[in-house]
Amino acid sequence: MDFKTVAEKRYTTKIYDASRKISEVLIEDLKHILKLSPSSINSQPWLFTFVSQKETKDALADASFFNAPKIKNASHLVVFSVMNNLELFERHVEENLAEGPVNYYKQFVKDQPAEKTINWLSQQVYLSLGFFLAACAAMEIDSTPMEGIEPEKYKDILNIEDYKVLFAVAIGYRDAEDSNQPSHKGKSRLAVNQVINSID
Ligand SMILES: Cc1cc2nc3c(=O)[nH]c(=O)nc-3n(C[C@H](O)[C@H](O)[C@H](O)COP(=O)(O)O)c2cc1C
Repeated sequence: MDFKTVAEKRYTTKIYDASRKISEVLIEDLKHILKLSPSSINSQPWLFTFVSQKETKDALADASFFNAPKIKNASHLVVFSVMNNLELFERHVEENLAEGPVNYYKQFVKDQPAEKTINWLSQQVYLSLGFFLAACAAMEIDSTPMEGIEPEKYKDILNIEDYKVLFAVAIGYRDAEDSNQPSHKGKSRLAVNQVINSID
């Protein structure tokens, strides 16, 4: 499938077929793809938590407002978190990044307010979301990005420290009756001339 077709076909899945699970081989591919996501200065300030165990997935669903049924019926839930312990981030930069990025960090990032740095790091994690949604669609795996969750409860359930939970993505296979599919209701987007400027 060419990428234009992938973009036209992907959509936010609202109803999953609970009987269909994603194979371990494809889950391993998705983990590998997430690891390859690009980030500013190659900072990789993320943690991706894959949850398929029923009890934990159900507990996370119960901390996800109106999104609960999607999570309960999906095959897996992937939780995206950003490193927000900045001492740990500095150590990570020094230990893992190349000289150029380390110098960039020292010159432009190190002394700025913590909130600004955490916002910048969070942007890198959102970028991995785009990468992930596109990869899922290319692999014909359905997905639901969700900010409608309770991040503090997620952190407790998953025992996450030094990272802030930002959002989660349910993945699996759609129920044939899901009315949100583009084949049922088309795609709702602004016109090209409202969002694209061309200077020729
Ligand atoms: C960061 C982000 C958070 C979202 N949060 C939710 C959510 O909590 N629940 C939900 O059903 N859809 C959620 N969506 C889906 C959007 O509403 C959806 O992408 C948008 O309406 C476009 O529709 P499409 O994805 O089907 O093309 C979210 C999307 C993004 C990118």
